Amino acid sequence: MQKRYLNDIMLFERKCGKMFITFEGQEGAGKSTQTKLLYSHFLERGCNVILTREPGGTDIAEKIRHILKDPGSAYMSKKAEALLYIAARAQLADEVILPHLAAGGVVLSDRFTDSTIAYQGFGNGLDLGILISMSNFAGNCLVPDITFYLQVDVKEGLERKLAQGTPDRIEQKDLSYHMRVKKGYEYLLRNFPQRIFAINAELPRDEIHKTIISHIENMKIEGGNTHETYYGHHSRRRRLSNY
Ligand SMILES: Nc1ncnc2c1ncn2[C@@H]1O[C@H](COP(=O)(O)OP(=O)(O)OP(=O)(O)O)[C@@H](O)[C@H]1O
Ligand SMILES: [Mg+2]
Repeated sequence: MQKRYLNDIMLFERKCGKMFITFEGQEGAGKSTQTKLLYSHFLERGCNVILTREPGGTDIAEKIRHILKDPGSAYMSKKAEALLYIAARAQLADEVILPHLAAGGVVLSDRFTDSTIAYQGFGNGLDLGILISMSNFAGNCLVPDITFYLQVDVKEGLERKLAQGTPDRIEQKDLSYHMRVKKGYEYLLRNFPQRIFAINAELPRDEIHKTIISHIENMKIEGGNTHETYYGHHSRRRRLSNY
C-alpha cells in the first residue's frame, strides 16, 4: 500500500515537473482548443502549469500580436514580420517561459519556433539559417520537450476559422501560401520525429485530447530539454536539399 502511494507521488512529480510542451499546426487545426483542454488537465492534477501563446503571452508581446494580426498591416514587409514575431518570442521567453521552467513548472505554448520556420521560412521564403539563429537568440536556444503537430487539411482549417469570424491578416493570405506552410510543417516533422508528434486534427476533439494525454503519460522526461539547441546540428544547405 505504502509503495503504491510512493509510486503515485513519483509519477505525479515526473508529470508535473519542468516540461515545455508546444502546439503547432495551421489555421483552424485546433491548437487553442487542445492547449486549453491540456491546461485544464494539468490544473486538475494540481500541477504548476501555465498556458501561453505566440505571438503574445505578455503585455508587450500581445501589443506586437495586434500589429501582426491586423488586416490593416497587409503591406508589412516579410522581414519586418519575421522580426516582430521573433521580438514577441524574446519577450515571452524572458518574461514568462524561462522563469517558469527554472522554477520547475510546466509551460504549454500555443505555437513556438516551428511556426517561424513554417510561416516565415517556407511560407514567405526567408532564409532558414537566419530565422533559426534569430530564434535561438530570442528563446535562449530553448527547444520544447514535445511538440504536438495538429495536421489538418488546409482548406478545412481555413473554413473552420472563417466560420469563427473575420479572417486576420495571415488567414487572408492565398491558398498557395498556406500550402507552402504545410510543406514546412511536414518538413519539420520528417526532420524532428522524436520531438514532433503528429495527430490527425480532423478526429473528434476528445479523441485528440486523449491521444495527447496518453503520449505525455508515456514520455520519458527527466526534467529539462532533451535537445541542446534548435536545429543547431543541421546546416542550411542540408536542410534545403533534403526538402
Ligand atoms: N477536432 C475538431 N474537429 C472539428 N472542429 C474543431 C476541432 N477542434 C477545434 N475545432 C473548431 O475549429 C475552430 C478552430 O479551432 P482553434 O481555434 O482551436 O484552432 P487554432 O489552431 O487555434 O486556430 P488559429 O491558428 O487560428 O489560432 C473552432 O471553431 C473549434 O471549435
Ligand atoms: Mg488559436
